Order: sequence, then C-alpha cells, then structure tokens
Amino acid sequence: MDFALTEDQQMIQDAAREFAQNEIAPIAAEFDASGEFPVESIRKAGELGFMGVEVPEAYGGANLDPISYALMMTEISAADAAHGTIVSVNNSLFGVPLLEFGNEEQKRRLLTPIASGEVNGAYALTEPQSGSDARAMRARAVLSADGSHYVINAKKSWITSGPVARYIVLFANTGPADGDAAGITAFVVDTAEPGFQCGKTEPKLGIRASATCEIELSDYCCPVENRIGEEGQGFKIAMTVLDSGRIGIAAQSLGIARAAYEAALEYSRERKAFGEAIGSFQSIQNKIADMKLRIEASRLLVLEAAWGKARAKKSGSKNTLKASIAKLYASETAMFVTHQALQIHGGMGYSKELPLERYFRDAKITEIYEGTSEIQRMVIARHETGLR
Ligand code: CAA
Repeated sequence: MDFALTEDQQMIQDAAREFAQNEIAPIAAEFDASGEFPVESIRKAGELGFMGVEVPEAYGGANLDPISYALMMTEISAADAAHGTIVSVNNSLFGVPLLEFGNEEQKRRLLTPIASGEVNGAYALTEPQSGSDARAMRARAVLSADGSHYVINAKKSWITSGPVARYIVLFANTGPADGDAAGITAFVVDTAEPGFQCGKTEPKLGIRASATCEIELSDYCCPVENRIGEEGQGFKIAMTVLDSGRIGIAAQSLGIARAAYEAALEYSRERKAFGEAIGSFQSIQNKIADMKLRIEASRLLVLEAAWGKARAKKSGSKNTLKASIAKLYASETAMFVTHQALQIHGGMGYSKELPLERYFRDAKITEIYEGTSEIQRMVIARHETGLR
C-alpha cells in the first residue's frame, strides 16, 4: 500500500491550491454576500483544466484520475465551497453521464464545451415532489410519431448552476407507469431552445455564489441525438453519476473542514484568555484533537473512495458503498468541525468579518445534496444487510 501521491496528482493539488488561495479566497466573501455567480474565476478555472479533470484531452479535459479530481475539489472548496459546487457540476454531474454513457458524437458536441469550461452544465433529477425518492419523478418525455425527437414536459427543482447552464442532463419518464425506475431515460437539454424556462432562483443559506433555480420544460423538443444511452437506462445513469458525484462532495466537505480547522488552530495559538493562549486549555485541546481525528479519517475515506472508483471502472464493478461512506462521514465532519471552529472563535466566529460563519453555513449543504445523510445511511445499510 502506497499513500504517496503521483507526480500528476501532486501537480494538480499544487495548481488548484495556488489558484484557490490567490484568486478565489480573496473574492469569496464578496460573492457570498452578493450571491452573484463568479463568472471570471469560473472561466479561469476552466482555462486551468479544472472543469473536466477526468475527461480525456480529446473532449477538452485534463485526462487525470479520480484522486486528482478529489484533490482539486478539496483545494477549491477550502477557499470557497460555492466555487467547489460550480466546478463539481461540470466535472461530475454533467461530465460523468456523457463520459460514461454518451456516444462519440455526443462527447465531441456536448461534453467538450463543458469539460473545457467554455459553458456551464447542470443536472436535473429532483422535482418539487421528489427529492430522496428520485424514481417518483413526474417529468414525461414522449417520442414523436416520426421518431426524430422527444416532447418533454417537466418541472425540476434545486438545479445547481441552472440559471447559467447552457446544457442540462435531465431525467424524464418514457415508460408507461409513473414511479417505475425502468421507465426513466436521460436526455441533454439545450437551454437556448424554445420551451425551456428558468423559474425562481433559490435564496440559500450557504454556497450563495452558486446559482440554483427551478426549471420548467413545456412541450420542449429534444432531438433523439440528445438521448443518453437507451430508453429506460436513465435511473441507472442517474445513480452511477451520484456514485461518482458523492466522492466530489466528500472532497468538498473535507476542504471546508480543513479551512475551518486551520483557522481555529491559528486562533487558538494567538488568542489569550486568563493570561494564556486558549489552545493550552484542555477544553480547546479536546476540540482540536476531535476535529483533527475526523478530518484525517475523512481524508482517508475520500482517497479510498476515489481510488475505488478508478478500480471499479476497470473491473466493471460498482463503487456505491465507498462513495456513500465517504460522503456521509466527510459531510458530517464538515458540520462538526465548522461548529467547533466557530465555537473556538467565540464572538469573532459569529461575525461576518471572519470566514468562519461562511464555512459553517456552507458545510450544511454537504449533508443534503447529492443524497442526504439519511439516504447515505440507507444505501450503506441496504448494502450491508442485503435487505430493502
Ligand atoms: N448504480 C447503478 N444502478 C443502481 C444504483 C447504483 N448506485 N442504485 C440503484 N440502481 C439500480 C438498481 O439496481 C435497480 O435496477 P434493477 O431493478 O434493474 O435491479 C434500480 O436502479 C432501482 O434501484 P432501487 O430499487 O434500489 O431504487 P430506489 O427507488 O429504492 O432508490 C435510492 C434508491 C438510493 C434511495 C435513490 O433513489 C437515491 O439515491 N436517492 C437520492 C437521490 C439524490 O441523491 N438526489 C440528489 C439530487 S442531485 C443533486 O443534489 C444535484 C445538485 O444539483 C448538486
């Protein structure tokens, strides 16, 4: 067993850290306050190859491995989780379905502009009445009589990057019955075409610079060339994408936790109370040890899940369990650590003058999106018991 990073992995970690600390960290508070989408820094992230880390160069990507992707996500998110979210959507939620299930023509036409960061992508699974129970979607796609296109009617909610996306991977039912996973099909929707509309933008607690909205498709004509995979393969595509995406969210959680921990560590050395640095008090030392322990365990789980993804890809097996374990543990660690780090800062932690309160707000989403902690526990327990 070798815990050392390869040269390529080290290189992307260094490049991402440098970019994140020099160009994202200084603007994070401003974009958090305004809730504006950070167009310029996201364009730069694309130029640096961070929008398609695992995508082959032929389709505009950097052609690196899942560990490189996780390292990049941690570094970007340590500077600003909202940037991490935006980057993860192009790489993972849009990139993976195209990369793993798209045909050659779709990869060239639809994946290349997303992986190179030329435009933004999004992923539409959730609906107003179906979140955790993803198969209960009501979106419908009906094949035209001449077989040239599908007519899609759908309302999707919580669409990350929805307001700025050019292309969206969208799931709709093409089967006879609602609620049947075997009837769900995946499509790529071009938001510039008629019949597509963005609804209200969500006013969010955290990751405020990442734009989130509802979308509505009314008699939208989707050419058959934009169907990904076969009819009825959509639910498996959606789940395979989440197996991959959850590793990215785990890596994002690790980044948030690390940033909060480093701030708390520094504060505990500098801040004096009762004539001593507060870090010398046992109550603070216990918090530091507990934070460090969970961060280190999260780091190992993230790396193992990313390593497992590469192995599963080669052997044609699934990496569902490792992805859910890493996501569950790292997201709960992000929440725990930001809570402790804020407490160590006392009143200053509660102030907008320091980034602690932003880390705390941003951490919460990692326990919710790409499958809540309750869903991760369900996935893990189903795997372990073999029961449903
Ligand atoms: N990979 C491949 N196939 C899978 C799979 C996986 N990980 N998990 C399930 N499947 C397959 C099953 O094998 C089954 O197929 P067969 O019938 O052919 O065997 C089919 O899918 C249905 O599986 P289940 O019966 O297990 O499905 P279920 O209805 O019980 O749901 C679930 C399973 C795990 C709860 C799933 O619905 C789930 O993950 N829910 C959470 C959804 C979620 O994460 N939403 C987040 C939205 S995305 C987001 O947050 C985006 C953003 O913008 C950031």
